[in-house]
Amino acid sequence: MALQASMIVDKDFILDEVDPRIYGSFIEHLGRAVYGGIYEPSHPTADECGFRRDALEVIRRLQVPIIRYPGGNFVSGYNWEDGVGPQSERKQKLELAWWTTETNQVGTNEFADWAKLAGTDVMMAVNLGTRGADDARNLVEYCNHPSGSYWSDLRISHGYKEPHRFKTWCLGNEMDGPWQIGAKTAVEYGRLANETAKVMRWVDPNLELVACGSSSSGMATFADWEATVLDLSYDQVDFLSLHTYYNNNENNSENFLARSLDMDQFISTVASICDYVKAKKRSKKKLYLSLDEWNVWNSIGTSRATERWQIAPAEFEDTYTLEDALAVGCFLITMLKHADRVKMACMAQLINVIAPIMTENGGPVWLQTTYYPYLHASLYGRGKVLHPVIRSPKYDSKDYTDVPFLEAISVYNEEQSQITVFAVNRHLSETLDLDINLRSFCEVRLVEHLVLEHDDLKATNTKLHPENVIPHNQGTARMEEGHVQARLSKSSWNVIRLDVIKE
Ligand code: AHR
Repeated sequence: MALQASMIVDKDFILDEVDPRIYGSFIEHLGRAVYGGIYEPSHPTADECGFRRDALEVIRRLQVPIIRYPGGNFVSGYNWEDGVGPQSERKQKLELAWWTTETNQVGTNEFADWAKLAGTDVMMAVNLGTRGADDARNLVEYCNHPSGSYWSDLRISHGYKEPHRFKTWCLGNEMDGPWQIGAKTAVEYGRLANETAKVMRWVDPNLELVACGSSSSGMATFADWEATVLDLSYDQVDFLSLHTYYNNNENNSENFLARSLDMDQFISTVASICDYVKAKKRSKKKLYLSLDEWNVWNSIGTSRATERWQIAPAEFEDTYTLEDALAVGCFLITMLKHADRVKMACMAQLINVIAPIMTENGGPVWLQTTYYPYLHASLYGRGKVLHPVIRSPKYDSKDYTDVPFLEAISVYNEEQSQITVFAVNRHLSETLDLDINLRSFCEVRLVEHLVLEHDDLKATNTKLHPENVIPHNQGTARMEEGHVQARLSKSSWNVIRLDVIKE
């Protein structure tokens, strides 16, 4: 007999509204993300600005609400002035985060143009590694002030009469990491973040600001860093960042698919620290979380390109398996489970660098396995998250106990009268029979049951075989007396879509 699991989907069990920005992404001046990814003037599909239309098309399909830019580690040595003004006059510079040569052909204005084409907002990051409050407030003035000041008039002279009005800004990147250009102690960073935030807001009071949390929960300073930084900057910031990457380099799939339990714990812990500082300060303000770097990163730790000062060398071009896509699905479900706290998140990164989308210079674009759970969550995971009331058989893995074979969540989109259930069957060899009780809805119709699966857990999509792992809509879900009954294949990502006919 197949394993049995059940869940209750009740419209009164509202956790919170999903902030669509949890489906954000990230493009850094790293590897071929910018040059060869979104921008390649000599590519046959390039538009008049040099942007690859083929890449834009598959990015638009994702409906990415926000993209973090320009870094990442890159931002901590970046002088944004190098990337504005006539492209022919821009200087090539040594880029010290990744030991490459930065041509500066793409900078703030080009990225703003591209983001418009991609239909996304920009989450800007300022350099708090080699620079500080002065350059940050100049950049805000350049980007967001309408006119009548030195920096805003400079932007106008560069051909951008209308301000970009970027709202969301990161106060540096991973400032706790020894690898970071200009890394800082928590006290140094907390003070700097506070003062920088203050003057940035004086230039533009509409800003929404993100302070750096730890680079990962594995940092020796984790938790102390968060508490100290917030102690020094709580009133000036709106979000605290979390970064987390996972890999299966030990080749233990049961354990790897349970890594979302670590993400879950990480989110809960950081939320508790925020609330501790809130209590200490007798503050009324709730701080939200920005999981602005997360993904599977199997090539992590392989360091920089061996030959220094290349222009846009191929770096961190991980090829993702079905198993990686299932892990990504579990991470997305985990974020949805924390929809009341995680209000922004960026899959790191979007194209060519640990990314769901790959390109070849001068060649085609193709979609990795991880593209699909990301696409489904972004398209169908908007609305209200309903508390997951789930029963599932469990297993123990090397690092985790009581791992449910079923990882699932439901989202109710009242405006469109739709319910979506996202579900991963973590079992590597057994199907899982899922009963979904829809007791609070009078009449519901099954729209489709999408499934991402493959006989081989290690199956990938490549340039030559781009459609080896793609979703189908032949899932087994069916309606039966107000319940959905679905048999979830072993190691599968499932999206069960329902229309509410009568509440
Ligand atoms: O996303 C790749 C890198 O990972 C980023 O530059 C950095 O912030 C993180 O360590």
